[in-house]
Amino acid sequence: MHNTRCLEDSAAAHPETSIVDLKWPDDPAEIPDWVYTDQRIYEREHERIFLGPTWNYVALEAELPRPGDYIRSYIGSIPIIVARDQDGRVHAFENRCAHRGAEFCKTYRGSTQRFICPYHQWTYDLSGALVSVPFRRGVKGKGGLPEDFKLDAHHLRNLNIACRNGVIFASRHDDMESLEAYLGPEILSQFDSIFDGRDLKILGVHRNTMPANWKLYQENLKDPYHATLLHTYLTTFGLFVAGNKTAIMTDAKGRHATLCNARPAGGPKTTTARPKSAPSMRRCNLPIRASSSLSPSTTIRGPAMRSRSGRISSCCGRPIFSARGRSCRWASTSSC
Ligand code: FES
Ligand SMILES: [Fe+2]
Repeated sequence: MHNTRCLEDSAAAHPETSIVDLKWPDDPAEIPDWVYTDQRIYEREHERIFLGPTWNYVALEAELPRPGDYIRSYIGSIPIIVARDQDGRVHAFENRCAHRGAEFCKTYRGSTQRFICPYHQWTYDLSGALVSVPFRRGVKGKGGLPEDFKLDAHHLRNLNIACRNGVIFASRHDDMESLEAYLGPEILSQFDSIFDGRDLKILGVHRNTMPANWKLYQENLKDPYHATLLHTYLTTFGLFVAGNKTAIMTDAKGRHATLCNARPAGGPKTTTARPKSAPSMRRCNLPIRASSSLSPSTTIRGPAMRSRSGRISSCCGRPIFSARGRSCRWASTSSC
């Protein structure tokens, strides 16, 4: 179990402290508060993790079923748009105008031919390419942009895309390994047992705003200690009982994790069936339930199991951060 140091000891209370002077406590299991509260830590994490060599879940393809469909999303605190062009290809680009950086798209989800920035009406197509600029040649022969202004030099900042079984990930990093290599075989198997390629149907979206550092939610998923105490439905329905077998499987680099737990004796026996492939759970001989956290910001929750009706329920979530790094809005999409 971790202890946290009191705030008076933390760098948050001493902003003049250099970040390189921050000291981890002698007890490595003790977590200092500044890990969660220091703005400089947050900014470094944002730059190196979210904008670094990671794949970030951004949308489901089912949220963009037709050409022209788009949805707003985030990588860390960077607002982005995921859009399907007229040829059916999916693109992701920053929701920041190439002119003066305005966040030009304010609608959560919709369908369009063009994105027009409201500030000076620079206009972009569904791939993020700049297609028109007002007063480019000036007015009555006066003013306008320089002769050598090139539309294609002002594309919205594009993101790299990886899609697997209807789930879309994006990365700002230009030299990313494949999504499959990034997840590794164990976590990929867990991912595929939920998103197995069947068509997804959007059941709804819910969002929460939580005053918390982004790491807390990821850590919470690896905390079975609270589960049977806080979530009483788990014990009420015999789904997860203290003392039953539990394991956390990780990928080789320890970035992602799957929490597996065996159904306790006396728990419900007939509501679910084991997924066809789940080697991560087979390896630790825990055949029943799992939820996964994919670094840096995705959770896949719900039973990785097919119910008797043949439906698979699942949800993908992504935290969306405030610039201050201490609160996050939580958006999740349910599908079956
Ligand atoms: S900031 Fe978008 S057109 Fe000027
Ligand atoms: Fe919980």
